[in-house]
Amino acid sequence: MKESEISQYWNDKAEALKTDPSATMKDVILRGMEVEAIGSRLKADDELLDVGGGNAYAGLLWAEQCKNVLVTDFSEKMVEYGRVAITESRRDNINTKQASVLDLSVYARQYSAVTCVRCLINLTSQEEQLAGVEQLASALKPGGRLFLIEGLDETFAAMNSARQAMQLPAISLDWHNRLLPKDKLEAKLTETLTIEERVDFGEYYFLSRIMHPLLVAPEEPTFQGRCNQIARDVWRAGLAKGRFADMSTLVLYVCTKPRHDGA
Ligand SMILES: C[S@@+](CC[C@H](N)C(=O)[O-])C[C@H]1O[C@@H](n2cnc3c(N)ncnc32)[C@H](O)[C@@H]1O
Repeated sequence: MKESEISQYWNDKAEALKTDPSATMKDVILRGMEVEAIGSRLKADDELLDVGGGNAYAGLLWAEQCKNVLVTDFSEKMVEYGRVAITESRRDNINTKQASVLDLSVYARQYSAVTCVRCLINLTSQEEQLAGVEQLASALKPGGRLFLIEGLDETFAAMNSARQAMQLPAISLDWHNRLLPKDKLEAKLTETLTIEERVDFGEYYFLSRIMHPLLVAPEEPTFQGRCNQIARDVWRAGLAKGRFADMSTLVLYVCTKPRHDGA
């Protein structure tokens, strides 16, 4: 896969879906859970850089919870529609600009919080993905926090094994996605940061990707179906917290940069 094709893909998505939350993820319930998981950890005085932030849907919600937000994305069309959404919101503590996760040098050590949600999985090699982690960490002030949500190889495979054990077909990865191996990602994060929390969405994956299709077969499950809404409520209530972590394709890493990082 080539960077230019991936860029075209996201420009096309932005043109088609404009400011809609589904422009960057079809499962908008899971998307809402990501926004909640990060939003509940932001602080009122946080200055936030959202990298690969798409059409600023999440950034606008986080702007209600922190001091200010800069959303960046490498797709010019995502930035264009992000600007439309920001103008329509009339908020004055959020802006959007074009930038690649592979070069955040102009933002070095400027932010108390950096978010990056399903952006690194769009890079074309593992080397670039790990270089992206370095860039994200570099944008943090000493003591700042990185909120990184990415998909992992192992948890995606475990979710598919569970499906196959129930005679459901494996879900295939979108052509423009490359998941990260957990050990390599964590090794890279811990070169400069401390991992404080790993937040999973495992019970949602179990209920939405295994129970839901079994319940509605031979119909296809819909992303906004009742079962997925209940799955979100189960996740929110923490009823089975952590028990399905091994099949949570997406994981939120909450990391801190040391107060004295010697840089
Ligand atoms: C799956 S979407 C996620 C968007 C948003 N973070 C969200 O929560 O829905 C991936 C986003 O990453 C952007 N992207 C892909 N490669 C990028 C890169 N090298 N630098 C910055 N953004 C990138 C895409 O344009 C797209 O908006």
